[in-house]
Amino acid sequence: MHFISPELEDYIEQHCEKEPALLAALNKETYQKILLPRMLSGHFQGRVLSMLAKLIRPINILEIGTYTGYSALCLCEGMQDNGVLHTIDIKEELIDFQRKHFDKSPWGKQIVQHLGEATTIIPTLDIKFDLVFIDADKENYINYFELIVPRMNKGGIILSDNVLWSGKVLEPLNPKDLSTKILLEYNALLKNDPRVETVLLPIRDGLTVSRVL
Ligand SMILES: C[S@@+](CC[C@H](N)C(=O)[O-])C[C@H]1O[C@@H](n2cnc3c(N)ncnc32)[C@H](O)[C@@H]1O
Repeated sequence: MHFISPELEDYIEQHCEKEPALLAALNKETYQKILLPRMLSGHFQGRVLSMLAKLIRPINILEIGTYTGYSALCLCEGMQDNGVLHTIDIKEELIDFQRKHFDKSPWGKQIVQHLGEATTIIPTLDIKFDLVFIDADKENYINYFELIVPRMNKGGIILSDNVLWSGKVLEPLNPKDLSTKILLEYNALLKNDPRVETVLLPIRDGLTVSRVL
């Protein structure tokens, strides 16, 4: 969900950096060929991810939820020359599409694709991360956070997407709606956990920035 008017969104996009040509092509091809294209971060959030990565200058990046690879490429824009981005997705049918676009970028050889359930794959990664982007199934956000915190360098940043969940975080909770229930618990956890300091930014569907202390 977008919390601001389409007109204001247009104005914001016009006053941000342009979407790089490679990403515009990936965006277009995702809408032409892949199911649920709205899952892709898109121009504005993509530029936000790119800017955050350029400020952080990470060496090791982890992304949970690759989809067609758009946000992975945005995060790579800020990665150091010797950096590696590990990205996990459960959908086998997306692997070749991702790789085709990764290999058109300057970071093809620095992107490692992992196929499978993220809660199974994360424990196998013996790496300390500087930047993590959580953007997969909401039911596992707390599990992802608990797996990730011990694998973060001090001062590392965890970004969590969709934390406002189309505004459902303000509505009476339907007990059958597990995603909203977990997101409510997750947002409270990020606010109260002494291992991180957090700001929730009202960007697109809500993006939290948590700094590991
Ligand atoms: C919102 S999309 C990611 C969008 C992408 N980060 C971007 O901004 O372009 C979420 C992705 O998470 C993947 N996913 C969902 N549950 C997963 C799980 N348990 N383990 C790994 N990947 C999962 C889905 O297959 C989907 O491609």
